Amino acid sequence: MRFEVVTLFPELFDGFLATSIVGRAVASKALHVRCKSPREFGIGRHRNVDDTPYGGGSGMVMRVDCIVACLEALDAEAASEGATDAAIVATEAPPRAHRILMTPQGAPLDQARVQEIAARPRVALICGRYEGFDERVRASVDEEVSLGDFVLTGGEIAAMAVIDACSRLLPGVLGNADSSVSESHSPAMDGLLEYPQYTRPAEYRGLRVPEVLQNGNHAAIAAYRRAEAERRTQERRPDLWARRTAARGQQK
Ligand code: ADE
Repeated sequence: MRFEVVTLFPELFDGFLATSIVGRAVASKALHVRCKSPREFGIGRHRNVDDTPYGGGSGMVMRVDCIVACLEALDAEAASEGATDAAIVATEAPPRAHRILMTPQGAPLDQARVQEIAARPRVALICGRYEGFDERVRASVDEEVSLGDFVLTGGEIAAMAVIDACSRLLPGVLGNADSSVSESHSPAMDGLLEYPQYTRPAEYRGLRVPEVLQNGNHAAIAAYRRAEAERRTQERRPDLWARRTAARGQQK
């Protein structure tokens, strides 16, 4: 899978793309990430990419022309590389990346959306800085995604969250093929949070690992885990529990 990131701060991604599971995904070529700065398409001697808002108001607004030029340059680079790179031709990467604007006004990122994004061959993530984007940027993107109901200083951390969450779903990236299956928010968990996990020591400062997990009775362990996952979800995420209950009602 290829990500193309439009960012004024490509260097923010260096450590992220070289470390841990994401670093391994890049090294194994399961994941390709290219960052490009809209500054390359900036205006005038200072290569400005932002300007004051029409109608007045505080802050600066990112220009639509610099962002779209950057997206189009990334598409052109991918197309010309595709002509020589057999692996990319084989995946039939479309000529235009699926474009996602990172913004607090977007749809909240959740695991279902992560799965949709991870199934695409090429995705462009557009990160803003300053007070926001010229509204006309929205005419050139396919969707808008938010990391949550809070405002970051820019979209880069949200873009890293998307890349991180997608990369662990790519074939061969996680060591144990099962480890992204039975975790919170995954389809196999049926709308439940993950059950609690323990490892050695069996007792730590008076806190004991539940007996049922130590006796090797697999049916009892499965029942315990299921009950704990349900209890947790009801307690911590009544919104998820209600959604699950409603979905089950409709299935009947
Ligand atoms: N840029 C600034 N805040 C953001 C958020 N919450 N999600 C995505 N991009 C952002």
